[in-house]
Amino acid sequence: MSNALKEYLSFCQNRVETALDQRLPVAHILPQKLHQAMRYSTLDGGKRMRPMLTYCTGKTLGLNPDNLDGLACAVEFIHVYSLIHDDLPAMDDDDLRRGKATCHVAFDEATAILAGDALQALAFETLAHDPSITTNAETRLKMITTLSRACGSQGMVGGQAIDLESVGRQLNLPELENMHIHKTGALIRASVNLAALAKADIDPAVASQLDHYAKCIGLSFQVKDDILDEESDTATLGKTQGKDKDNNKPTYPALLGMAGAKQKARELHEMAMDNLGAFGEEAQLLRDLSLYIIERNH
Ligand code: IPE
Ligand code: IPE
Ligand code: MG
Ligand code: MG
Ligand code: MG
Repeated sequence: MSNALKEYLSFCQNRVETALDQRLPVAHILPQKLHQAMRYSTLDGGKRMRPMLTYCTGKTLGLNPDNLDGLACAVEFIHVYSLIHDDLPAMDDDDLRRGKATCHVAFDEATAILAGDALQALAFETLAHDPSITTNAETRLKMITTLSRACGSQGMVGGQAIDLESVGRQLNLPELENMHIHKTGALIRASVNLAALAKADIDPAVASQLDHYAKCIGLSFQVKDDILDEESDTATLGKTQGKDKDNNKPTYPALLGMAGAKQKARELHEMAMDNLGAFGEEAQLLRDLSLYIIERNH
């Protein structure tokens, strides 16, 4: 990871930790168990890649991070909700997440379902109300539309449905790509596009280049996630290694072989770079982040 990226990542991680903490309900107000579960799963863990993308896109566009906290929190709330539900017995049935017990193990299944539900609602309340977002009402509505489409039945949740339907089936490459673009790509794309919406006078060509960049890294992120599930180890990942094979999931390494999957990740990174061709030094963090996504070890 470049030094500039390391520094900015740590700045964003600290920043979003505080912002999430401020926006989550405190643990001692009723219903306490629900609020504890929301805080347990959201705080103090994860790479914060989606908030990082929001802040990096904003920085590329010359925006003040003070105006991006609500957007960064909204995408992370949706992401955490998706992880809590993804780990449930009815889905991937995982007991380890971010190096600690999954929400349904640390609390109980009903609480985990409700914590996910409440985090999803909190994401949209944040977009609708958060004072850090200073755009006009019409743009705020566009932000809400962007995030709701990214996480609904034609976005993340749709991808999760395809994932569950595909267990044990042989998907072809376009089907696998479609699943990954939805279950993981859509929210990553939204993390970039929300920051682009925060720039009032953005040139539509610039917005479109950023969107294409985000589409490439959204897919490469899940290709790498599949690779790590096979190649990494539980301690490094903070989640149980080898679960995709155990659960008979269609993945890039399963379909293309490990070398083919790595080649695909590299190609997606190069496509992401091509889409930033019109940008100068101001987009260097976005370039570094795309490389980090395919080279990370967790
Ligand atoms: C894991 O996401 C789930 C996927 C969509 C692949 P991350 O790898 O971003 O998980 P955290 O947030 O760092 O725990
Ligand atoms: C999860 O994909 C995608 C979402 C949570 C939307 P995975 O099932 O591969 O994620 P991990 O490997 O459990 O983090
Ligand atoms: Mg899953
Ligand atoms: Mg999973
Ligand atoms: Mg995975």
